[in-house]
Amino acid sequence: MIDKKWWQEEVIYQIYPRSFYDENGDGIGDIKGIIKKLDYLKELGITMIWICPIYKSPMVDNGYDISDYLGINKEFGTMNDLDQLLIKAEQLDIKVMLDLVINHTSDEHIWFQEGINNPDSPYRDYYIFKDSVDGKEPNNWRSIFGGSVWEKVPNEEKYYMHVFDKKQPDLNFENPKLRNEIYNMINTWLDKGLAGFRIDSITFLKKDQNFESLKSDGNDGLVTCKYKTRNQPGIEVFLNELKEKTFNKYDCITVGEAPGVRYDELSEFIGEDGYFSMIFDFKYADIDVESGSDWFKRTNWTTKEFKDLLFNSQNEIQKVGWGANFIENHDQPRAISKFITDESYQNFIGGSALALMYFFLRGTPFIYQGQELGMTNFQRQSINEFNDISSVDNYYRSIDEGFTEEEALQFVNLRSRDNTRTPFPWDNTKNGGFTNGTPWLSLTEYYPSTNALDEVNNTNSLFNFYKKMIEIRTFSKYKDILTFGTFQEVENVSENIISYYRQNNNEKLQVIINLSNQSNQINVEKNDFKVIMHNYEKVVNNNQIINLKPYEAILIEL
Ligand code: NOJ
Repeated sequence: MIDKKWWQEEVIYQIYPRSFYDENGDGIGDIKGIIKKLDYLKELGITMIWICPIYKSPMVDNGYDISDYLGINKEFGTMNDLDQLLIKAEQLDIKVMLDLVINHTSDEHIWFQEGINNPDSPYRDYYIFKDSVDGKEPNNWRSIFGGSVWEKVPNEEKYYMHVFDKKQPDLNFENPKLRNEIYNMINTWLDKGLAGFRIDSITFLKKDQNFESLKSDGNDGLVTCKYKTRNQPGIEVFLNELKEKTFNKYDCITVGEAPGVRYDELSEFIGEDGYFSMIFDFKYADIDVESGSDWFKRTNWTTKEFKDLLFNSQNEIQKVGWGANFIENHDQPRAISKFITDESYQNFIGGSALALMYFFLRGTPFIYQGQELGMTNFQRQSINEFNDISSVDNYYRSIDEGFTEEEALQFVNLRSRDNTRTPFPWDNTKNGGFTNGTPWLSLTEYYPSTNALDEVNNTNSLFNFYKKMIEIRTFSKYKDILTFGTFQEVENVSENIISYYRQNNNEKLQVIINLSNQSNQINVEKNDFKVIMHNYEKVVNNNQIINLKPYEAILIEL
């Protein structure tokens, strides 16, 4: 068990800068836009923001392809804008966390340019170059965004490796010089006064050095590269060194995007001397698909299965460290569309049930922009309407695997990362008040009825529900128990009820969620419980039996 840390008390709001607020009218959100909207975030009550990448980038993967780690991409503004943001945020008592992408760079990064154009350059060993085998790719690994992980080097019988897109070549962490450059870069940013980092794809740093082909798992003859590039033995050496040379010198927060970590390895990642403060656990977030990147492998999940995954995650994390709780991010569809299977409840009721369900779990809660408004997925009619590269890949892979174009489009509509990347609807005017220009990605069709201005002013909105939850977790007398109290599953309840206790020595709170469109009942320990929050007009009980309406959600003190 870890000691108390300041970052356990935070409520973190994730900003996708391209889509937050466009201050200069070019259709793309920017840093000045974030500055303008900090007051909105203060009103909501969050204590920290995480901004997705704003570094120089050709934007093939919307900033997760960095061409200069120490520069700001023009479309977002300047370093001066960022400095202004840090100042204003500090005045409002909001901490700022940036995204750190060190598994790969853009192919337009100067290191890669030097490395690919000159075989004798020391920068060639900053990346992974291999000889071709029988005139072909070195092996049959499939990249996360589709196609081979190998891209041919012009005029040479060599290939370079990319776990993600071909414009995102992987860095070679086996090279100590490269590692040192990365550490210096990280320390330069931390010296600027950042609160810390969300760390991208960090379990991909170590590659199996055999580079052997494996048995194919698809009609393309390839096999997912995850088996040999994700969380491989030896990664602990890199992650320990990374921590020692950078994060440990600062009192910063580090949130690892660390897919592929088994629960029996959690203490190495998030224990007292772990590599990170916390990591995201995707095991329950991806319940609707068999494997995170193959969207055509859909599942018929049940609430019971979801609850088991969620609670297992909480229990395993509680044994060793601290969690990062989320239901949405820029790689996931909207939570209401994913988890509320009855469309007639994809509204305030469904949104507030999910909110109460995850927000009071043990761990630091993350809110993704627009989640607090109850945004839902969109329906696009053609693959040409998508921006996200993995949507395009998944569409063609689905067809390759024998699905019709219609089915392929349906998978993409359900799962596309663009679902959460649509511009933020500030009000009901043209383009939802996001921009005066032409938005880089079209807004959801329903912004006239779901937007920030209306919700801030409506006391019964989801925005105000989130505001109340934040207030309770951060500023009320329940702060201590909701932050540091233990998590315990409430057992022997209906399969469709997700219920847990948060408790410390002398207090006990209970969260009750009926995650289904059927009425239900739950028996609680006392009949003189106090209702702290709920999402229907009133809680109906007969002594210790609470009658639950569809998707009813309640927080009580026992
Ligand atoms: C995970 C990020 O969240 C995602 O948006 C990105 O495409 C990949 N890593 C590659 O950096």
